[in-house]
Amino acid sequence: MSYRFIDVDPSIGPVGALISGVDLAGQLTEDIVGEIHSAWLKHRVLFFRDQKLNPAKQAAFASQFGELDVYPFVKAVDAHPNVIPIIKEPDAKMNFGGAWHTDTSYSLQPPKATLLQAIEVPDVGGDTLFADASLAYQELSDGMKQMLEGLTGVYSAKMVHGGKGAYTSVAGGGNIGDAYSEDKETAAVEVEHPLIRTHDETGAKSIYCNKFHTHRIKGWTREESLPIFDFLVKHLIQSRFVSRFKWQVDSLAMWDNRCVFHNPMNDYQGKRRHMHRVIVQGAIPI
Ligand code: OGA
Ligand code: MN
Repeated sequence: MSYRFIDVDPSIGPVGALISGVDLAGQLTEDIVGEIHSAWLKHRVLFFRDQKLNPAKQAAFASQFGELDVYPFVKAVDAHPNVIPIIKEPDAKMNFGGAWHTDTSYSLQPPKATLLQAIEVPDVGGDTLFADASLAYQELSDGMKQMLEGLTGVYSAKMVHGGKGAYTSVAGGGNIGDAYSEDKETAAVEVEHPLIRTHDETGAKSIYCNKFHTHRIKGWTREESLPIFDFLVKHLIQSRFVSRFKWQVDSLAMWDNRCVFHNPMNDYQGKRRHMHRVIVQGAIPI
């Protein structure tokens, strides 16, 4: 595909492309947004450098791809209900989202897109890894694909945000940022989504379940389900499916939660990292 308005460089690795030649803070024509959207569907994660996006501009750019959503577990930035701070302070141990996952897959209509803007980043460390869950799906055996396709997952935030969830036990210490907002009721909800989802725009199938957001396979125990989740993530994070993004101040990444997993590295102890995040609502996974 050739692009008239943007430059698309996919050399970062198996998934993702660096987009240049566009100022996301400016007025974008429908044609430009259309090209960004096409590149996003093709490469699944887009990376931009040197974008001066305050919360209002970040939200305005994101809203061209759909309705913005509100994330339940972090208090938003002042006056911008759709923009949340993702902060790791120098003395914090845990980082937000520090495991392989897709965003908020435990909600009924998980976000199709996440847009993360870097405000302050360590010189070294704090990269984010992205894995192509669609390519990884394609490379499963036919037997495995057939078994997985018949299965439904029971998804819930309780493993991460519930009573003994990973965040709630440390949140008092401000470990994932003082903006953490406990919501036990939302955390307890269970929803059913397929383990393998079909992309509503491209039709591509992708691995979707993960052990932090998927409690179990429907009709199975959690103990029985975990080896399947563990296998799938082990398969997914092979280097032939993974790209690594090194952030700079004013970098923006926009990933497709329907077909990409991500994992932020927690390797910058003693340094501060500060991002702003916006999510765009997606459809009910099928
Ligand atoms: C997220 C997340 C990634 C990062 O914001 O959803 O997983 O690089 N963070 O901080
Ligand atoms: Mn995430």
